[in-house]
Amino acid sequence: MSDEITLQQLVEDLAGDHGPDLRGYKHTTLERRIRKRMFQLGIGSFRDYLERVRQQPHEPIELLNTVLINVTEFFREPQAWEALRAEALPVLLQALRPGDGFRAWCAGCSSGEEPYSLAILLAEHFGSSANEYDVKIYATDVDEDALNFARRGEYPMERLRRMRPELREKYFTSNSSGLRISREIRRMVIFGRSNIVSDAPISHCQLVMCRNVLIYFDTHSQKQIIARLHYALDPGGVLFLGKAESRLTESRLFRPLDSRWRIFQRHRSDQPESHVEREVIVNTNPTSPEDKLQQELAVTRLYQRAILETIRPAIIALDANDIVVTHNDAALAIWKLSAPKLTGKRLQNTELVLRCPEFPARMLEASRGAGGAPLTFECNPKANGEEHQIAVTIRPVVTESGQRAGTLIYAEDITDRDKLQSTIEQLEATGEELQSANEELETTNEELQSTNEELETTNEELQSTNEELETTNEELQSLNEELENMNEELEERTTELNQLNSRYAETLQSMPWPVVMVDLQEKIQLWNAAAQRVFGVGATSVVGVDVDHLPIDSEVRKTIVRRCRLAMDKGKTSILREQRVRIDYGMDAFDLHFTPVSRSDGGMEGVLIMFGPAEAPRPARSAAGSDGKAERTQAPKPRNPAEKKNRQTQ
Ligand SMILES: C[S@@+](CC[C@H](N)C(=O)[O-])C[C@H]1O[C@@H](n2cnc3c(N)ncnc32)[C@H](O)[C@@H]1O
Repeated sequence: MSDEITLQQLVEDLAGDHGPDLRGYKHTTLERRIRKRMFQLGIGSFRDYLERVRQQPHEPIELLNTVLINVTEFFREPQAWEALRAEALPVLLQALRPGDGFRAWCAGCSSGEEPYSLAILLAEHFGSSANEYDVKIYATDVDEDALNFARRGEYPMERLRRMRPELREKYFTSNSSGLRISREIRRMVIFGRSNIVSDAPISHCQLVMCRNVLIYFDTHSQKQIIARLHYALDPGGVLFLGKAESRLTESRLFRPLDSRWRIFQRHRSDQPESHVEREVIVNTNPTSPEDKLQQELAVTRLYQRAILETIRPAIIALDANDIVVTHNDAALAIWKLSAPKLTGKRLQNTELVLRCPEFPARMLEASRGAGGAPLTFECNPKANGEEHQIAVTIRPVVTESGQRAGTLIYAEDITDRDKLQSTIEQLEATGEELQSANEELETTNEELQSTNEELETTNEELQSTNEELETTNEELQSLNEELENMNEELEERTTELNQLNSRYAETLQSMPWPVVMVDLQEKIQLWNAAAQRVFGVGATSVVGVDVDHLPIDSEVRKTIVRRCRLAMDKGKTSILREQRVRIDYGMDAFDLHFTPVSRSDGGMEGVLIMFGPAEAPRPARSAAGSDGKAERTQAPKPRNPAEKKNRQTQ
């Protein structure tokens, strides 16, 4: 067994639970709208959706927003507004005097375009004397968001595109977000939340408009709403509906002012209009009481005859002995009697009994009935090969003391009436179907319009996203160009740097004095050609080795390690003078220069140690360098004979 629930159950559960009360709305529309919401949420069953409504506090509002369609427009269906202006407003406003009030109710006002249109129409009607009338337009809806929008009275330009330009100029002022309706118009309209099905209606209105709202409700709720709208109106007040809405043809409450544009007027009195009784003037001059009586009798007879001949049904009046006292021509016609007169004949002896053989028994039955209660039956007399259906009422005429004074036989040919009735019923059914199809079409139309508006918004959003993307793209492109330029610059710099590096390396390599670079981990990173020459050890054996393992005298090595650390810690250059270092042909004296090397970011990279020539004892000023010390410019001697030879040939 499936645990799915029906739409009806969902609606009932929502109403009894946390959800909006959607009972009374047409199920076809409701189902479409709820499914639309479910689709947005990726939910496939009503049960799952009910669960979502229970869990998500915001979902009832989302659902209501999906179900309520807010399509509206200023002066929507201009021809209908023109009919209101030309046919209804004069009826309502002509009797108004300065100081009088005028109350209107706009039920289902959506975002306010409709009540503001009415206010503009009234302002146009009253002209410069508008301030002299107390106009109040109550505008209600269930949709809070729509009402908040309406209260601001600000509309984007495209929502006013169909309004006559002179009205737009007269009643709107432009600001940054669009056009704002003028204060004088806003003052006339009072917005409020009210459910047309369940909240109390506004009362004592001269005009009620409820346009394109009824179409969302089922027939039962439509009737309830119409009754409320009727209540809201003063007698003679005008009701303005949407073009696809109820024609109120059957209504005893309203009469049409303009059926096409669904403008109706509430009857001035709720009683059916009675015929004015006319006084019967008897133009006689009776001389005696007897004459007077005769006169009255004659007049009564005249009336009796006139009545008998006026009414369409057949009447036969019998006395207490069932003798025909009087009848009308319709009686002869209905029963297809050939005799020109029945008067004076006993009923049982007339053709009537041939036409309807059950008459005597029915007469007896009627005469036995209590208190002259009428008896009705139908019979099907056949005459000239035609069968008719006749509805007969036998009404005993009884005196005040209860004695039967006679009988009245009333007969109506219902052959056609039945046919007509069934035709009328069929027509009514077709009319109702048409009306409901029309309403369905209208709601679908509104939905389409709302979807169209949504699509337009989405399109605009997409367009703006697209524009943003294009801007971003252009920015990226320009960034890219900048990066390319920077890249080129970097490449140039890298080439320059590489050249500089190799020059620097070459310089260090070609220095005539041993140069050693020690990094922060005290490992040897550079060992130039002179070092290799002087100490007889190649770079491959020394690079990466601890400075503490330099292939020189341990005393000097320790001193070098200490000096290196000092240079790294303090960042200062220092010179160790006259260090005697053993090389392959003996001892030689060097001045050791310790130079801290910094990175470009300011951090320490290591220490450069150069084994320079030990300064000779300071000679006389003429032969000395600028510091007064004699400078040794010779490179240290090579360690092996081949090198020695090599140097000699240079
Ligand atoms: C299609 S709009 C019509 C707006 C306007 N009357 C017009 O014709 O331009 C229908 C409006 O009826 C409102 N509505 C729906 N159910 C309602 C209810 N139960 N009570 C009051 N307003 C309701 C909706 O919120 C929506 O704003």
